[in-house]
Amino acid sequence: MAITYLPGKAPHPREHRMIFRNVDRADWDTSLARYEQEGGYSMLKKAVTMEPKAITEEVKKSGLRGRGGAGFPTGVKWTFIPPNNTKPVYLICNADESEPGTFKDRYIIHQDPHQLIEGMAISCYAVGAHLAYIYIREEFPEGALILEKAIAEARANWYLGNGICGSNYNLEIYVHRGAGAYICGEETGLIESLEGKRPYPRIKPPYFPAALGLYLCPTIVNNVESLCHVRHIMEMGGETYAKMGTPNNTGTRILCVSGDVVRPGYYEVQVGSLTMGELINDLCGGLKPGRTLKAIIPGGSSAKVLRADEVFKLKQPDGSTKELTVMDIPMDFDTIAKCGTMAGSGGVIIMDDTRDMAWVLNNLNQFYAHESCGQCTPCREGSLWMKKISDRIVSGDASPDDVSLLESVAYQIDGKTICAFGEASAWPTESFIAKFRDELTARTKSANKGKLVAEEAQLAAAGLD
Ligand SMILES: Cc1cc2nc3c(=O)[nH]c(=O)nc-3n(C[C@H](O)[C@H](O)[C@H](O)COP(=O)(O)O)c2cc1C
Ligand code: SF4
Repeated sequence: MAITYLPGKAPHPREHRMIFRNVDRADWDTSLARYEQEGGYSMLKKAVTMEPKAITEEVKKSGLRGRGGAGFPTGVKWTFIPPNNTKPVYLICNADESEPGTFKDRYIIHQDPHQLIEGMAISCYAVGAHLAYIYIREEFPEGALILEKAIAEARANWYLGNGICGSNYNLEIYVHRGAGAYICGEETGLIESLEGKRPYPRIKPPYFPAALGLYLCPTIVNNVESLCHVRHIMEMGGETYAKMGTPNNTGTRILCVSGDVVRPGYYEVQVGSLTMGELINDLCGGLKPGRTLKAIIPGGSSAKVLRADEVFKLKQPDGSTKELTVMDIPMDFDTIAKCGTMAGSGGVIIMDDTRDMAWVLNNLNQFYAHESCGQCTPCREGSLWMKKISDRIVSGDASPDDVSLLESVAYQIDGKTICAFGEASAWPTESFIAKFRDELTARTKSANKGKLVAEEAQLAAAGLD
């Protein structure tokens, strides 16, 4: 079937649009009728005739890994609900989309809300949930209204409510608006917030949501994009789905590219089907004219930065070693992790030679200092301390020891906090110092001293002192 896209919005030929199939279509709208015209909700109809366990098995076979950040296998997560559970089971769709550099979930919600609702309903049926929430950040007010309308339409047509699609399965989905905080994207902080409390993350163990989640009942928390994939796994079967992408890195994923490229934007590709260089040069049209690549943050702001000239020696399954430059890295979870960083939420931030790394790091540190929930001391005090030191580096007031001090503060946060925000805030500093120490040191007072003396002498010679 021929699809028409809005002017200038057609996908790149190397894309594989599945989750974003209906995004930017000229011949599409968010109504239930339009969704049904192209097979919408047929997979939910099929699902409610199946054994719930059989659906979980298909999701396991598909190899789907969560698209929210950690890349944890979705089907495996679902099996963590205790087998002898007698409490209600909940499902939460994480629509907080809080990781800087990430902008995909909002397009699904704005342009294809029924795809998400169908994916959620199938997932709820599989895990035995009769009540589900979509936790959406307050900054997406339009998205919340679109979802509420879509839920009402689905309910009026027996895709939600009692006796879904003529079965005896009941499910309600509610939209819950957050108050706009990065930490509300962390699953246990999100759960606290949904319970009406301050979003202080919970300690894991014991509070793994699948066992002790919302109201201390088993709760599955999945990202918007992850839940949409479930609908497609139902359609093609787990094994066929697993043929997309590469082993252990299956399916498609949406990469959100921002920064110094000609065509920043979202690109849905088979996982690992292209390299970083192909993403930048083919899909994104290359760097801006006359510029050279300086650095890349490959998976949202908390992923460790890569330097353009890094070369990695990676062990191959046959025992040999392969050299990879940054541009050779395939865009999959495992290889990016072997290169010392992470694919995270798919937010790829490209920086060219005009970027001032002290400024970039300070910008990130300002964000993390603002967003720390304050519950644990290393993160609360450390994130603000890192911001203050990087403020000094940017303004040229840092002492010669400040770069090492900054590094030591980061390592005192990393691994010593209640939630993974600690690492998220420390990794930018650790990696920027490891890879751009000279550039940061050049901004400290002692390094500037010679330059200032020379500038003063020049001004004096010109009679301008
Ligand atoms: C500080 C922090 C912020 C996070 N923000 C988000 C977010 O905005 N959206 C999201 O889906 N996951 C976010 N996560 C990951 C969630 O805790 C959780 O792992 C995810 O929602 C699980 O879904 P998935 O398995 O489908 O990826 C965040 C994690 C941390 C530590
Ligand atoms: S690591 Fe930071 S964000 Fe997480 S609980 Fe501790 S203070 Fe809060």
